[in-house]
Amino acid sequence: MRTHFIRRSYYLLTLLAACVCISTSAVAQTAPDAVYQDLGGKTGISKIVGDFLPIVLADTRINAAFKDTDMERLALMLTEQFCEVSGGPCKYSGKNMTEAHKGMNVTNAQFNALAEDLQIAMEKNNIPSSVSNKLVAKLAPMQRPIVSK
Ligand code: HEM
Repeated sequence: MRTHFIRRSYYLLTLLAACVCISTSAVAQTAPDAVYQDLGGKTGISKIVGDFLPIVLADTRINAAFKDTDMERLALMLTEQFCEVSGGPCKYSGKNMTEAHKGMNVTNAQFNALAEDLQIAMEKNNIPSSVSNKLVAKLAPMQRPIVSK
């Protein structure tokens, strides 16, 4: 009788441990498109880009670089790119970052200014900083190919 009780308790304890383990691993795992979803999907991202570009054009630290730019194309390209890097279902179809910024002599300060403008646009769209920081972190590796000065 006692052995039976001990064996049963052991069985229940193992079961409980397995349940705790499964539930914590489910919490720890995040979907690969979590940032994309948190940005509001394709609609949310294109709205953010729509707010971002006027901020860039009003920013005297960087706006001179965009004086001859086709802003409509840039909006489309950025939307695709942000969608892809945030884990969404898009495929960026534009130039690679080295090619796109060749000969522009982009500085680290300009790169940071543009990232700051993007943060402002996301804030305007009520994206929590925990999410906007993730998008900016995903763009950070592009600093090397973009900055040439
Ligand atoms: C996180 C940083 C940046 C990202 C993710 C980014 C991304 C892009 C993308 C996706 C394009 C479109 C390429 C294409 O048309 O195929 C582009 C173009 C362009 N970028 Fe950036 N960029 C960044 C920083 C900068 C900075 C700091 C500047 C200058 C201050 C800059 C100036 C430009 C200009 C002027 C174009 C248009 C080039 C053209 O007219 O062909 N970008 N960028």
